[in-house]
Amino acid sequence: MSKIVVTGKIPNAGLEVLHKAGFNPQAWSQDTAMTRQELLKQVQGADILVTLLTEKVDNELLDAAGSQLKAVCNVAVGYNNIDVAACKTRGVTVTNTPGVLTDATADIALALILMVTRRLAEGERVIRSKTPWQWGMHYMLGTGVTNRVLGVIGMGAIGIATARRAKACGMSVIYYSRSEIDSKIANELGAKKVSLDELLSESDVVSIHCPSNESTHHLIGASQFKKMKPTAYLVNTARGPIVDEQALVDALKAREIAGAGLDVFEFEPKINEGLLDRDDVVLIPHLGSATTETRDAMAMLAANNAVAIANGKSPLTPVG
Ligand code: DGY
Repeated sequence: MSKIVVTGKIPNAGLEVLHKAGFNPQAWSQDTAMTRQELLKQVQGADILVTLLTEKVDNELLDAAGSQLKAVCNVAVGYNNIDVAACKTRGVTVTNTPGVLTDATADIALALILMVTRRLAEGERVIRSKTPWQWGMHYMLGTGVTNRVLGVIGMGAIGIATARRAKACGMSVIYYSRSEIDSKIANELGAKKVSLDELLSESDVVSIHCPSNESTHHLIGASQFKKMKPTAYLVNTARGPIVDEQALVDALKAREIAGAGLDVFEFEPKINEGLLDRDDVVLIPHLGSATTETRDAMAMLAANNAVAIANGKSPLTPVG
């Protein structure tokens, strides 16, 4: 029987899938992530790994697992924690969890758009700090989103779902993506494909939804901020390294953009100190997929991928 090692604590719904399929997974049950040393020990002899985005799957880990390893099933749609090329060279299949977290993540993108444009976190801090306040015509004014332009970078499922939500708020949509989206969806959203430079200069809110890889590393940096409107906002629910975080801090300080809403960070869980005391940024701790039902669905999909591979079948959601 295949040895399945689950390297982080996942919802029971995922473990049940493995048990019901007749496997007896070696599953980490502590809330805190394993140390690297522990991880390298735990993966030894595994046929299949079920991993979380906090685990770096690189040559060192693949060596530690051994040459019998068949697959790495990530419990995330993003897989920048995995060296996919190294897996491919060794014949190790990689899977992710697309689809099941689309709505949850798009909800968070919309929430960040509204929070940062309407200064909601800042307002809440006023109340919680017991700072005296009074309603006033000029008190804590933000920017409305109706009739503004949303620029989506990476028009995959989550980008489209975010665009739908923004459209319901009266925003118009432009996007920058490798490929054109389905014409039916483009018509429904009235979404126009543009170059990255056009997107940056025309958008009132830029929302990032592309994968994190070598070609998108620091896709948004110093020169891109200079192309944005000084009244525009940046929202990132994809992955931190897509944005040069220090360049973001510099752009905010120089008022090259109006603010940012961030769910992900370049050196997660560390956050650039320059962001922490700014009222023009909203910072939340990677909550994109953080609903009970979404996390259950992610764990179940990853487990079903593992079961399929262990049984010699094609995985449901392979990467690449
Ligand atoms: C993912 O699945 O990539 C998300 O970032 C997890 O929250």
